[in-house]
Amino acid sequence: MPSITVEPCTFALFGALGDLALRKLFPALYQLDGAGLLHEDTRIIALAREPGSEQQHLAFIAAELRRYVNDKELDEAVVERFLARLSYLHVDFLKADDYVALAEMAGSAQRVIAYFATPAAVYGAICENLSKVGLTENTRVVLEKPIGSDLESSRKVNDAVAQFFPENRTYRIDHYLGKETVQNLIALRFANSLFETQWNQNYISHVEITVAEKVGIEGRWGYFDKAGQLRDMIQNHLLQLLCLIAMDPPADLSADSIRDEKVKVLKALAPISPEGLTTQVVRGQYIAGHSEGKSVPGYLEEPNSNTQSDTETFVALRADIRNWRWAGVPFYLRTGKRMPQKLSQIVIHFKEPSHYIFAPEQRLQISNKLIIRLQPDEGISLRVMTKEQGLDKGMQLRSGPLQLNFSDTYRSARIPDAYERLLLEVMRGNQNLFVRKDEIEAAWNWCDQLIAGWKKSGDAPKPYAAGSWGPMSSIALITRDGRSWYGDI
Ligand code: BG6
Repeated sequence: MPSITVEPCTFALFGALGDLALRKLFPALYQLDGAGLLHEDTRIIALAREPGSEQQHLAFIAAELRRYVNDKELDEAVVERFLARLSYLHVDFLKADDYVALAEMAGSAQRVIAYFATPAAVYGAICENLSKVGLTENTRVVLEKPIGSDLESSRKVNDAVAQFFPENRTYRIDHYLGKETVQNLIALRFANSLFETQWNQNYISHVEITVAEKVGIEGRWGYFDKAGQLRDMIQNHLLQLLCLIAMDPPADLSADSIRDEKVKVLKALAPISPEGLTTQVVRGQYIAGHSEGKSVPGYLEEPNSNTQSDTETFVALRADIRNWRWAGVPFYLRTGKRMPQKLSQIVIHFKEPSHYIFAPEQRLQISNKLIIRLQPDEGISLRVMTKEQGLDKGMQLRSGPLQLNFSDTYRSARIPDAYERLLLEVMRGNQNLFVRKDEIEAAWNWCDQLIAGWKKSGDAPKPYAAGSWGPMSSIALITRDGRSWYGDI
């Protein structure tokens, strides 16, 4: 039996027939049900604009659930129990009258959770209509990214929501914060004095954060082309990872203590100067290449593409944090579509020992590295130097891992998907894995100056072949500082 209790709720999912809901949200709710983490009185209302009968839509959701939940994890008894919680409501999100039925279904529910898996442009209208039918008092709202496309538009969305829902009932999703290893970062840093004493510019030389995806844009061209990799990945996921690595220890584990520290980091990010745009930042766009041994098209040849687009599908950059802890310690961020493999990892490079006594030719490999792998093969590995075994080896050094692989170490436990954790925390009313308004704004503020710089310079993104690690200049970006991306090629 689970050791935590979760209160019952009416879970109203707006945009229930969209990709995110079908691929991630229903499967996550199903898993929570299977784990005994949905209260028996919890009801789920799927809301969407698509015409058609309730029966037809529920059958479709059920089929999609069976498609997206791993066969080994499909338990027909749980599927039946889960589907029995579910109803469908046809709603025009902009019409207040359509919300009356929702209010009736929610009835006297102690708690309503309204999850917006819709474009952010309608968040304000949904909130207003929820308030018109009296669904504000006990309601928590969950906002999916992207919230706006710059500081100004994100403020508009947040302000529209804030007219009806206070910050302490507003949950902004960044699904990276729900990933198991990301949460482990907090445990690693603040439950181990070993690391925290070394966690500063005296001992760390630089930090790398790579979030590489093997897939291209596929069916998402319409959305992605307006966003680009900076808005789609750096503004949220990579900056959140950077914050968790760079923040000071919070006073406690409360949501606001953690988020206060993250905001300080975002505010301390040095703006990138016009010169820095050429030396510190690389934008790329994939051209035709290979993935898994097959030829794949370039970004401009994807279905429904605009062949003139200069949207970036890759960004590498060097960020500097202006504070005592991180002065002189660059954070190299890199993310792209159509990379050789799906890989999200953070590498903390420690400085060399202050006095070096081994053979000069071994010096290059000497620094310790802490590798935090978010996906795949979630785990943490510390590369330490030891001596080669054998009488003939003298004091020959080798770098080897002290390793903690989560799936091997905790063999019985499956690693939950990020959305399972996040949905559970919304139901529990715990906001520490959600992004506060001022965090989003500080992140946009930093990204906006970069985007403005790009616009001004008019530089086209650099081409890179699908299946490669990005444009050559992204390698130059780090080698210029006498370093290299960990583990490439
Ligand atoms: C989403 C982006 O937020 O994250 C997508 O919009 C991206 O473009 C996805 O593919 C990556 O998530 P994950 O969990 O697969 O690394």
